[in-house]
Amino acid sequence: ALIDKGNFRHFMAKEIHEQPEVIGHTLSRYIDFGTRKASVPGIETAGFDKISRVIISACGTAYYAGLVAKYWFEKYARLPVEIDVASEFRYRETPVSEDEFALFISQSGETADTLASLRYCKQNGARIGAVVNVAESTIARESDVVFQTIAGPEIGVASTKAFTCQLAVLAALAVQAGRIRGVLSEEQESELVGALAEIPGYAVQALKREVEIERLSQSLSKAPNALYLGRGTNFPLALEGALKLKELSYIHAEGYAAGELKHGPIALIDENMPVFVIAPYDGIYSKTVSNMQEVAARGGRIVLLTDARGAAESGNAADDVVIMPDVPEIAAPIVYALPVQLISYHTAVFMGTDVDQPRNLAKSVTVE
Ligand code: G6P
Repeated sequence: ALIDKGNFRHFMAKEIHEQPEVIGHTLSRYIDFGTRKASVPGIETAGFDKISRVIISACGTAYYAGLVAKYWFEKYARLPVEIDVASEFRYRETPVSEDEFALFISQSGETADTLASLRYCKQNGARIGAVVNVAESTIARESDVVFQTIAGPEIGVASTKAFTCQLAVLAALAVQAGRIRGVLSEEQESELVGALAEIPGYAVQALKREVEIERLSQSLSKAPNALYLGRGTNFPLALEGALKLKELSYIHAEGYAAGELKHGPIALIDENMPVFVIAPYDGIYSKTVSNMQEVAARGGRIVLLTDARGAAESGNAADDVVIMPDVPEIAAPIVYALPVQLISYHTAVFMGTDVDQPRNLAKSVTVE
């Protein structure tokens, strides 16, 4: 099929907007919308009833998807997760054994370091699974089981729709692992799967915030630095937000766990420092509000991504609030990924950088 930008200015914009649809396609392969059960084809190969640990290795944005999955496997399946960037994992000489499941996440399925990590785990007898977008890729071929994302071809160098589809697959995997391991009851599973099924609809609502995000991005495009904060599964999203801003707009950005603010990044806060806080209202929201107050007290400019309840309880610490739909916890990192992508996209457009092909970056890094 001919791949074009449709009515969009860049592939990245098109791919961001495709997400409700492609997340839906991906979910329909991994969950049963009718019975509200996870139904991941080939899941037996992972041996979730027998394994002692899940190992995850990946690079770039795919690594951040893995970091989110760590929270999910631990919480929903009580499975310990070891995760590292593939360039470190492959050389660490970390012990890997036959009772472990090693999972590699890669849009292209060709990333050299990820492939080398896979081969290392295979040699050490682990079961091998892959979350890839390209079904005929090397990583897919060398895996015992492939969980394909149905994102369609991704052209923009900075990954967007592949990331949210990776998260959709990983969420379904963690929930089904939780059922297999007897951690989740039928009711809990059906509640979680019901939440996943709603994500395409939430994603449509999230995209409606684009005009405000574009306006915000224009004023932020003058900042030399930016900070992203989040807790729980939104911490990896803070890392992803910072990565995207760096890659696309060349603005220096860092992502931090909100609770680590005091351990360093607070020293950087002044009136020139935009701080993006990714914080749906949840059980630890009040802790994040304290962090925002610390930033506000030092003049930092806070852009808060939260829901209506979070906005009401934010203590007016934020300068700007992007109000997101009220989403269940498991859906949050997927739904909040969209405004995070839009911030970097629009900032880059204002900066006039090459959005689809940022300088020095490659879509697929097949050499070390
Ligand atoms: C490059 C791309 C990123 C991607 C990473 C991993 O850095 O620019 O967007 O996340 O590689 O690629 P993979 O194909 O393994 O997901």
